[in-house]
Amino acid sequence: MVIDTHTHINDPVLFKDADSIISSLHEDNISRIVVVGYDRLSSERAVLLAEKHPTVFAAVGIHPHSASVFCEADYVYFSNIAMSLDVIAIGEIGLDYFHNLSPKDIQKRVFVEQLILADTLKLPIIIHSRDADYDMLSLLKDNRHYLNQGFVLHCFSQTLEYANKIISAFDSVYFSFGGLITFKNACKEEIIRGLPLDRLLVETDCPYMTPVPHRGKTNYPKFISLVVEKIKKILPDADIAELTTQNAKTLFKKLV
Ligand code: NI
Repeated sequence: MVIDTHTHINDPVLFKDADSIISSLHEDNISRIVVVGYDRLSSERAVLLAEKHPTVFAAVGIHPHSASVFCEADYVYFSNIAMSLDVIAIGEIGLDYFHNLSPKDIQKRVFVEQLILADTLKLPIIIHSRDADYDMLSLLKDNRHYLNQGFVLHCFSQTLEYANKIISAFDSVYFSFGGLITFKNACKEEIIRGLPLDRLLVETDCPYMTPVPHRGKTNYPKFISLVVEKIKKILPDADIAELTTQNAKTLFKKLV
């Protein structure tokens, strides 16, 4: 059994099918999923699903795409919904200079405000970082006192050198891999082989990042098996399902 640590079945594409997706998790060999919020509505839906289903857990927060609409009231709002026993992390939050849908300075401020929120609530953090390597590392270093509960860089797409820089600066950092690693030109083998085994997590990021051979279609938690298979080929001696389950439970302490 595997834990899919990053899903968006709260996304409009999947939300209508959320109950049926959840009911087939067991037969898809998935023990738990984390439903990750990216704005108010999606976070609210994540909590709703998590409170209804014992196999589902929630993360709440505002994605950098929506950082420009973040206001003081949101801080209070997220503090409140994050009190739910089923909320295991703050996320996904971070920096996205690829799409750049919010000004960079606002993205940074909103990211740091949510790091503070996570620390106040004693929750780990799910980080989205795209084309923002330098700023992300320096923000994490500058705010390391808010990172005591650990964090994961989801859909890790940077280099092994960058991963090692983060590992040497932080004790509790994890790297999550999804469908991207199955893409022909992704070349993630060296990174996965180079990372300590106790830092690895798996995810689908569904409905996005659909693994080969379904690339281009909607992604579902059940396709996590393709991600696990790919990692098994890279690390044939490791029990990837068991290993990533233990790692997920170490980072997300409320995930039981
Ligand atoms: Ni995501």
